[in-house]
Amino acid sequence: MILIIDFGSQYNQLIARRVREHRVFCQVEPPTIKLAAIEKLNPDGIILSGGPSSIYEKNSPRIDKAIFGLGIPILGICYGLHYMVDALGGTVKSSKKREYGFAELIIKSKNHLFRDIDKRTTCWMSHGDSIGKLPRGFKITASTSSTRAAAVAHARKKRFGVQFHPEVAHTPQGKKMLGRFLFDICGCKRLWTMKNFAIQAVNRIRETVGDQRVILGLSGGVDSSVTALLIHRAIGKKLTCIFVDNGLLRLKEGEKLKKTLKQHLNINIRFVSAKRQFLTALAGVTDPEKKRKIIGRVFMTVFEVEAGKIRNAAFLAQGTLYPDIIESRSAFGGPTSVIKSHHNVGGLPKKMKLKLVEPLQYLFKDEVRKLGKTLGLSDELVWRQPFPGPGLAIRIIGEITARRLTILRQVDDLLLQEIKSAGYYKKLWQSFAVLLPIKSVGVMGDKRTYENIIAIRAVTSKDAMTADWAKLPHKFLAKVSNRIINETNGVNRVVYDISSKPPSTIEWE
Ligand code: XMP
Repeated sequence: MILIIDFGSQYNQLIARRVREHRVFCQVEPPTIKLAAIEKLNPDGIILSGGPSSIYEKNSPRIDKAIFGLGIPILGICYGLHYMVDALGGTVKSSKKREYGFAELIIKSKNHLFRDIDKRTTCWMSHGDSIGKLPRGFKITASTSSTRAAAVAHARKKRFGVQFHPEVAHTPQGKKMLGRFLFDICGCKRLWTMKNFAIQAVNRIRETVGDQRVILGLSGGVDSSVTALLIHRAIGKKLTCIFVDNGLLRLKEGEKLKKTLKQHLNINIRFVSAKRQFLTALAGVTDPEKKRKIIGRVFMTVFEVEAGKIRNAAFLAQGTLYPDIIESRSAFGGPTSVIKSHHNVGGLPKKMKLKLVEPLQYLFKDEVRKLGKTLGLSDELVWRQPFPGPGLAIRIIGEITARRLTILRQVDDLLLQEIKSAGYYKKLWQSFAVLLPIKSVGVMGDKRTYENIIAIRAVTSKDAMTADWAKLPHKFLAKVSNRIINETNGVNRVVYDISSKPPSTIEWE
């Protein structure tokens, strides 16, 4: 396995993804990780990530220097390189000019990292500091026009550093370079497959849970469905799933899910309808954060009551994914600002005193889909687009009323039908309708109308961290717009959201 030390880079998850794409297991840990913990992990290599700090700043993140005494190959990227240079007696200085964007990398000395890499290739730079004096034994192996030490190496000691970012797609040969580090330098093998993962995960669940009972909040999304399957494989009937219908689902989604889940998961599932509780608590609320908090709270109350009926439950299972774990443990101890308070089964009810099982906590979303397929989950569940816990509540901007829910459900269903029949469903990360809190004037059959506006949102993404608005053909959009305005009551205008994430987010609230 490869250990990635997270110095706070916006790209650290990308490093992990690239390593996984080479079918090598990796784990991301903060620089505060203890030496003994590293020794226990026994990594074949360590990657030091980039980060926003300058190494000469007072509180810049650092990892125990003793890692250099472990004899493990090390690759430092950007800030990770600066840390290595500084720790080994070299110097790092602030550059006169910030280098940001594409640069031509000229390889000066072919070493393991650059074997079979073009002598001149494009790389992606994003740094304000650069190397001054090199530590003893290090050589410059590649340069760009503004950065002499764009890559350095102490090949004998297997210490490598790059100023650019091999993990981003903008460095076209970056993935190959990372592969060189993994296979040629660290001697890793391509053993990370979902089949192996499933076997290990099932064993681990059995060891952790023993013959105690587990409960799981099932949403019908791929994460909770795969979690359910894995746990069911490990402990069978000792798993009970709870599905809460909050009244904020898509058209007939509750019933459809009930059918699909029963059909495809031969698992104990309790279905709870709590529509009224949610809608009453949300009446008159327009603030997005308030909506999220209310939904989270009501969900916990309903879930707690239901879970309380399951005697001897000792564990709560969650479909937490790796990005959440990485974020909550990053170099600076978690996300610095709350963009949206995501609602999952998050806050463990204190009274219930349940321990957590999170078998997907090392996986990315696309890996969860692969795992689902390996476990035999139906395509319908594997390829379900993500649907947020707070559901349509955060797609109805402004107040949530029964009437507004009906309008959005109809429109959203129509859009979904069209997306599916045109073959876009699997290609898009998400596609949905949003009901706006303003009305507009229109004309229909010679009459003035004053009705609602619908925004269509469709994005492509790998993991929801970043997303591009989908370039759906105009012809398709025209058809959808026509159908929405003609076939649903109360809408006279449709707009298409052409914003990417960042700076926007996928959901509107
Ligand atoms: P944003 O809007 O932050 O969304 O770009 C990123 C991804 O997360 C989903 N999302 C949620 N999922 N509970 C969830 O389980 C939530 O509260 C929540 N809010 C957003 C969103 O649909 C997108 O896939």
